[in-house]
Amino acid sequence: MTVVVRAQCVRHCLLRLGDRLGNQRRQAGSGIAEATTSFWSVAEGALGARMTRVATTHASASAEPTRRDFLFIATGAAGAVGLAATIWPFISQMAPDAATIAAGAPVDFDLSPVAEGQIVKLFWRGKLIFVRHRTAAEIKSAQTVDVATLRDPEPDSVRVKAGKDQWLIVYGNCTHLGCVPLGNEGAFHGWQCPCHGSVFDTSGRIRQGPAPINLPVPPYAFTSDKAIRIG
Ligand code: FES
Repeated sequence: MTVVVRAQCVRHCLLRLGDRLGNQRRQAGSGIAEATTSFWSVAEGALGARMTRVATTHASASAEPTRRDFLFIATGAAGAVGLAATIWPFISQMAPDAATIAAGAPVDFDLSPVAEGQIVKLFWRGKLIFVRHRTAAEIKSAQTVDVATLRDPEPDSVRVKAGKDQWLIVYGNCTHLGCVPLGNEGAFHGWQCPCHGSVFDTSGRIRQGPAPINLPVPPYAFTSDKAIRIG
């Protein structure tokens, strides 16, 4: 619409100018008049053709978005299908596998093969766990300590399950800087850390060295007389 109005205005101005020049043409003579007429005829023709091209271009521009929209939608739909096909293997792999479940889910552990005096290591949620089958002497040593003298006072009874004194389950990293203490080592025959010398007793309590607290007890429960579930 804007293009058409502008074309009409320009054409009107040209015609008025043509009239004025026509008057001058009549005054100046027929030769000049013919040249002027020829010039304005060509000018108007050229202008009309240009306006026609502009109008045509405008009409084409109005129609073009429709094709672009179609192409855009078609391309987007194809891209969405391609993206879904591409990421589906990754999505399907997000289903937890056995290793992932073992890393984060509760772990069932059969105590039957663990002999008295033996310490077994296992992992739960990426953390090292000690499962210790304590001897009668180790249990007695752990229970007869004056708790008030301990750096991190805890009676042995709160670190084991009632009626299951022979089983001690604790995290397996030193509470100083995380090294792995060696079993059946140190003055209290519990664990001794090879890094800076922390000593833990048969209840996993800190007795000597720089470690500030006892080896923590992870969450666990007995699921049968000889099986536990950690987590
Ligand atoms: S890490 Fe065990 S004593 Fe330092």
